Amino acid sequence: MEIRSPQTPQEWESYYDLRYRVLRQPWNQKKGSERDDQEDDAAHFAVFQGFVIIAVGRLDILDDSVGKVRYMAVEESFQGKNIGKALMEFILTRCETEQLHTIILHAREIAVPFYERLGFRIVEKSHLLFGEIQHYLMEKK
Ligand SMILES: CC(C)(COP(=O)(O)OP(=O)(O)OC[C@H]1O[C@@H](n2cnc3c(N)ncnc32)[C@H](O)[C@@H]1OP(=O)(O)O)[C@@H](O)C(=O)NCCC(=O)NCCS
Repeated sequence: MEIRSPQTPQEWESYYDLRYRVLRQPWNQKKGSERDDQEDDAAHFAVFQGFVIIAVGRLDILDDSVGKVRYMAVEESFQGKNIGKALMEFILTRCETEQLHTIILHAREIAVPFYERLGFRIVEKSHLLFGEIQHYLMEKK
């Protein structure tokens, strides 16, 4: 298992495809809805098993001290095997290197216990995505 940014055009395609299939397609969202206008400024992380990407996540550096984790997704058949945890720990290590002292994220309700195990706490209830997925603003110092 290797964690790094995608590099080749094919790797970038499968990176966004995994994000789409896990986070957008189940809610009938259009292809393209998995991307935003900050992709070029963000740090991207992909978990590779051989040549295959099985998990993805993005880190946005908001200012000198605050980072925001977005678009965490593990391939369905690999969920529950500590891959998300390994990816988040890798991203948190990068945050330490960058000397970020607060990490925030908007967690889907179903993923809140996952982030709590990694040391995040709920700050407040946030938005409802696609009219049905409750999110919670969480942070870790
Ligand atoms: C949420 C997600 C990123 C977690 O990754 P994962 O690889 O499945 O989780 P892990 O196997 O690394 O779990 C790490 C720990 O969190 C726990 N955990 C993970 N998901 C959980 C859940 N939904 N409810 C309760 N506990 C959970 C695991 O039991 C494990 O606990 P342990 O350390 O005591 O063994 C992944 O399941 C996923 O992509 N889900 C669908 C998309 C999604 O909801 N993304 C998050 C958007 S905010």
